[in-house]
Amino acid sequence: MSFLDLAKGRYTTKSYNANTKISAEKIHQLKEILRLSPSSINSQPWQFSFVSDEKTKQDLASASFFNKQKINEASHLVVFSVIDNIEKFEEQIRQNLPEGAVDYYNNFLKPLPEKEIKSWLAHQVYLSLGFFLSACASLEIDSSPMEGIEKEAYDKTLKLEHYNSLFAVAIGYRNPEDTNQPSVKPKSRLPLETIIQSI
Ligand SMILES: Cc1cc2nc3c(=O)[nH]c(=O)nc-3n(C[C@H](O)[C@H](O)[C@H](O)COP(=O)(O)O)c2cc1C
Repeated sequence: MSFLDLAKGRYTTKSYNANTKISAEKIHQLKEILRLSPSSINSQPWQFSFVSDEKTKQDLASASFFNKQKINEASHLVVFSVIDNIEKFEEQIRQNLPEGAVDYYNNFLKPLPEKEIKSWLAHQVYLSLGFFLSACASLEIDSSPMEGIEKEAYDKTLKLEHYNSLFAVAIGYRNPEDTNQPSVKPKSRLPLETIIQSI
């Protein structure tokens, strides 16, 4: 299928078929795809938690406001986290990246206020979200990106160390009755002329 057709067909799933689980082989592919996600200077300031254990998934669902039901029904929940300690991040890039990349960080990012450095780190994790949602579509897996989560409760349940959760994605197979799917509810987007400038 063309990428355009995948973009037209993927959507934020609101109701899952709780009886259909994603195969271990596809989950493995998704993990590898996340590992290959691009990031500025190849910084990779992330960690991804794949949750299939029902009890843990239920605990996280209970800390997810209006997203509770879809998480309980979904096959897996994937939590995207960002490194929370700048010194630890700097150590990681010193050990893993070429000198030019470390120099770029030292010259252009390190001098910024901590808030801005942390914002730059989080941007990288959001980029992997786009990569992931497209990958799910290509594997015919339905997905729901969610910022509506209680991040501190997630950190505790997942026992995250040196990372903070940012958002989560429920993945699985849609309930055929899901009213949010494009065949029922056409996609809503701004007109092309409003968002694209061609010069
Ligand atoms: C970063 C991010 C956070 C989102 N958070 C939620 C959420 O907490 N709950 C929800 O139902 N949808 C959430 N959405 C889904 C968006 O509302 C949805 O992507 C948008 O309306 C476009 O619809 P579509 O994904 O079906 O094309 C989120 C999407 C993104 C990209």
